[in-house]
Amino acid sequence: MERTLSIIKPDGVKRALIGEVIKRFDSNDIKIVAMKMIHMTRTQAQGFYAVHKERPFFDSLTDFMSSGPAVVMVLEGENVIARYRELMGATNYKEAAPGTIRADFATDIEKNVVHGSDAPETAAFEIGYFFNNFEIVG
Ligand code: CMP
Repeated sequence: MERTLSIIKPDGVKRALIGEVIKRFDSNDIKIVAMKMIHMTRTQAQGFYAVHKERPFFDSLTDFMSSGPAVVMVLEGENVIARYRELMGATNYKEAAPGTIRADFATDIEKNVVHGSDAPETAAFEIGYFFNNFEIVG
């Protein structure tokens, strides 16, 4: 059993896509074991995306991620890191496979609706960034 962090980004919340994203978890046998709505400060967003701090899009990304509420969730299931990444589609929505969340809803490489951890080590860091053990059920 594996866990991963999901974020419905500020564009997804603003565009009322929370239900749509959760429906896809339910219909793909992905269990939500923790969930909350947060509004990150710029500093919190910078800490979360610290691996990208040298990238040209870092300032814009962290501004965007702190621009409004987001929904953070811990997902659990077999091979859930890879399965959730498949459901999301490629970071660049123009390259995302048809039927994926980003192909269906993203409007921009930055405003791509959802985030998901890319490996077990990043999942552990990202889950710990937002949740403590008492906030995760099961
Ligand atoms: P995410 O999966 O959250 O990881 C890093 C985020 O940076 C990515 O989704 C996008 O929202 C954003 N981003 C903006 N520009 C780029 C880019 N050129 N390449 C990768 N990610 C980008």
